[in-house]
Order: sequence, then structure tokens, then C-alpha cells
Amino acid sequence: MTDVRPSDSVVSKLFRSEQGGHEQVVLCQDRDSGLKAVIAIHSTALGPALGGTRFFPYASDEAAVEDALNLARGMSYKNALAGLDHGGGKAVIIGDPAVDKTPELLRAYGRFVASLGGRYVTACDVGTYVADMDVIAAENPWTTGRSPENGGAGDSSVLTAYGVFQGMRASAQVRWGDPTLRGRRVGIAGVGKVGHHLVEHLLADGAIVVITDVRAEAVERIRTAHPEVAAAATTEALISADLDVYAPCALGGALNDTSVRNLTASIVCGAANNQLAHPGVEKDLADHGILYAPDYVVNAGGVIQVADELHGFDFDRAKAKATKIFDTTLAIFERAAADGIPPAAAADRLAEQRMADRTPAESWLRPSVD
Ligand SMILES: NC(=O)c1ccc[n+]([C@@H]2O[C@H](COP(=O)([O-])OP(=O)(O)OC[C@H]3O[C@@H](n4cnc5c(N)ncnc54)[C@H](O)[C@@H]3O)[C@@H](O)[C@H]2O)c1
Repeated sequence: MTDVRPSDSVVSKLFRSEQGGHEQVVLCQDRDSGLKAVIAIHSTALGPALGGTRFFPYASDEAAVEDALNLARGMSYKNALAGLDHGGGKAVIIGDPAVDKTPELLRAYGRFVASLGGRYVTACDVGTYVADMDVIAAENPWTTGRSPENGGAGDSSVLTAYGVFQGMRASAQVRWGDPTLRGRRVGIAGVGKVGHHLVEHLLADGAIVVITDVRAEAVERIRTAHPEVAAAATTEALISADLDVYAPCALGGALNDTSVRNLTASIVCGAANNQLAHPGVEKDLADHGILYAPDYVVNAGGVIQVADELHGFDFDRAKAKATKIFDTTLAIFERAAADGIPPAAAADRLAEQRMADRTPAESWLRPSVD
């Protein structure tokens, strides 16, 4: 028997700790394929739980459960503010995707998703791709992130970048009274799938764009297409350059004590998940006069896109929903000002309010949000 102290146990996390509040956690095992997975449903208050499947070689089964619980909770907040009729859920498959991922394992996982009868809708996440979703979808109708040939929407980074751009326009409206980045210097750290689409939106809007990436070829690809785009050698050099807006579009934890101190930008708005390195950074940003557009709000274009697949994917309809990220971001800044709290805290309050009221998408975020 595993030596787990009561305070560390899964049951304790689920029912008693600050992780608590989840509706359902399913531990899945298929001995034939070697599948070990955790499906966590945080909330179905607004509709079926929606969130991706992470495939990762966790250090322990406990760590996998903890990650699933955390990620599922985050999806409840994200989906609520994305204006979707979905609650939050997430799944993790324990293992090294490069070694353990087989069609048999994915199909077995798909049958577990099916067993939930639609309470959980899955999608791609770290370690899973569109081709994997096509396999999982063979076992259930609650799999999104599929290929266009299989009724899916394909690459979600297109609408993610578009949504970040809408969040940035809303930030500009609040900071400078005009919803445009024209003539502003915008620094993008990470020009991968999302970052390179964001460059296009910004250039079309008349912004001055500076980029950086640890992959030289990612920088070159953009500079070849747009020689007017400048490059900084490192993220550290970028954030202390003369910027109006900083857009973290690489990994999490971009906003920490050092980066906040060195930032010259007065707006932070980017695609990266979990930008705040630790609790309290959101207050530091506010104290430094930096307007922070909460990451999970402005990067919701991807989840908006996959949610649309359940209704037969329509790009224009999904794009129209992603356009509302502009209004949501404005509403968050208004709430933050009204309540005297940082925007990240205001976002959480708005999400909690929508979940508590079980407000359907069609009547949420009319001109007045209070
Ligand atoms: N793709 C989506 O639809 C989506 C949706 C929501 C959130 N996000 C988040 O947005 C971020 C970017 O996603 P993506 O799909 O573009 O990923 P990606 O892997 O395509 O791009 C990330 C880029 O960041 C670069 N990078 C890594 N470390 C760096 C560093 N220290 N400094 C500078 N550059 C660095 C990489 O080389 C890569 O080019 C991630 O945090 C992701 O979780 C993406």
C-alpha cells in the first residue's frame, strides 16, 4: 500500500483542501493498453465541462491528480468568461507521449470519456494533437480539436491570436482612450503558433512590433515576411526596451518580481497561460501602474473555437464570439476600478458571479455586467 499521509491524499484534496469544490474526479485504468488517466470535472454549472487532455510523464500519480484538479478549476473560470455554456474540466494521461501513446491507449481513453455521457468534453492540450483527437473521437461524440476532415476546426492558434488582439485593443481603450495599437510599440516574447498570428494583426493595425524567441528560425520567418519588425536578443532585453505593450506568448511565469520591475510597458496582454509567477504579482503590476489583461480571458479564442465544433464548426460564428473578448476585457477593467482590486481578481469575481448565477451565454455580459 502506498504511504500517503491523510492530508496529502486525493480524497483530502478533493473534499477538504483549497483544491476542493470539484464535482467529480474519475480515475481511469485500462490494463491492456496501459492507460492511466484522471478526468477532473470542476463544474457543470454552466453546461458540460470542457477542457483539454494533457499527456505528461508525471513524477507521481498524486502529482497527476493535483494537476488535473488545478487545470479543471482553471477551465471553469476560463469558460465562464469566454461566454460559453460550458463548465470546467480537464484530463491528464499519465505517461510519456513519445513512448506510451498508441492508438489502443487513445481509444481506451475515448471510451472513458464516452462513459461520462457528455458531462466532459475533451480537446488538445500539452502532449496531445489534432490527430490524437481524431482517434479519441472514434469512441465518443464529445471530442473537439479534431481535424477539418473529421468535422473539427483545426489549428486553434488563429482565433487565440485574434482574441489576444481584441484584449489588447480593449486595454488600449482604457489606457489611452482609443481602441487601437496604431503607433504603439508592442513587444512579443514568443512568436510560435499564436505569436506569429498576433504580429499580423498588430502590423495591420499600424503598431510598431518588436519580437523575441529562443528559436532563431521563428524570428527569421517573421523578419523575412516583415523586415520592419525589429528583434530583441532576449526576453529580458525586450521587456526593458522602450515598449508600450508587452505580450508574453511563450511559457508561463513571465510576470515575476524581476520582470515587473524592469518592464517599461504600461500594458501587459499576451497569450501565454499562467503568466503570474506567484500570488501577489497582479498587485505589483497595479502598483507599478501597469494594466494587466488577465491571460485566461484574452487567450480564450482557442477554447471558443473548439466549443463551436460541437455545433458543426462555423469559423465566422466562432470569430464573432472571440470578438467579444474585447467587451469582456473592458468589463473586467471596469469591475477592477469599481472594486479597487487588480484586474486578475476582478476576472475571478466576474467568473464566480456568472457560475453562481448560472447565467446562460445569451444573457451574459450585456452592456452592464453588475
Ligand atoms: N495555441 C493556442 O491556441 C493557445 C491557446 C491558449 C493559450 N496558449 C498559450 O500561448 C502560449 C503560446 O502558445 P503557442 O501555441 O504559440 O506555442 P508555440 O510552442 O507554438 O510557441 C511558443 C514560442 O515561444 C518560444 N519560446 C519558448 N521559450 C521562450 C523564451 N524563454 N523566450 C522567448 N521565446 C520562447 C518558442 O520557441 C515558440 O516559438 C503558450 O503559453 C500556450 O499555452 C495557446
